[in-house]
Amino acid sequence: MQVIKTKTKLKEELNKLGDQLSLGLVPTMGALHDGHASLIKKAVSENENVIVSIFVNPTQFNNQEDLDKYPKTIDNDIELISDISDRIILFTPEVSEIYPKTVTPKTYDFEGLDKVMEGEFRDDHFNGVGTIVEELFKIVQPNKAYFGEKDFQQLRIIQKLTEIKDIPVEIIGCDIIREEHGLAMSSRNERLSTKMRQKAAFIYDTLKTAKIKFGMENALNVKDWVIDEFKNHDDFELEYFDITDVETLTPMQNKINNVKYRAFIAVYVEDVRLIDNIALN
Ligand code: PAF
Repeated sequence: MQVIKTKTKLKEELNKLGDQLSLGLVPTMGALHDGHASLIKKAVSENENVIVSIFVNPTQFNNQEDLDKYPKTIDNDIELISDISDRIILFTPEVSEIYPKTVTPKTYDFEGLDKVMEGEFRDDHFNGVGTIVEELFKIVQPNKAYFGEKDFQQLRIIQKLTEIKDIPVEIIGCDIIREEHGLAMSSRNERLSTKMRQKAAFIYDTLKTAKIKFGMENALNVKDWVIDEFKNHDDFELEYFDITDVETLTPMQNKINNVKYRAFIAVYVEDVRLIDNIALN
């Protein structure tokens, strides 16, 4: 597998690929797990050429400690990618290659999609995500790009980015991949003790019950029920639970027929921040 570190070299390689062949991009921050593997496999099955990028993007972290602690497992990552296919190109630029002048995010108008949930609790996070993803789209010019639904808000924001910047790329959302007990796969799970990693299945169990309740009871009671569930569990600190319209991500006021809703959650477990979500209807 080819590993490329500079934009110039990557562009050279991309120029050698046939124009008629489709090109898939899987942007990641490394510490790859089975969730990433599923995105990469989907990209390989749908495109002749695939670029995987690994770049821990500093402009999307609002907390220096979180950035410093972000796991780096490049040897394992290379092995995981090579096991999937040998026709993947890995792009792993340094920070100075992507941000030669200043390490600051651009500002976008995501029409409110960035103001709720993750956006409310992580200042400038989505401007940072937009900045790196727009740059990667500019460098790679993929036909399709793959993002996991675990970060559903990010997925919606990237769809919005392509709309407002008129970028001709098809955004493919991919199902959440879960550990055996139900915890959504995330590089952060590595930071949990074995015991809590199993216990954290409680997050998904709560989402599944919330979904059943959403179908049966007054939907507005579901949020209070979830808040109470977490109050009864000392191991977990609930940051937010919200039910929103999947298109606008605005919190539900009243359940409206024909509107698709999704429930979103962020929870601290052993000081590790975990997020998850579930389609409700
Ligand atoms: O989801 C991620 O890993 C990151 O936010 C992304 C999309 C690679 C941008 O840095």
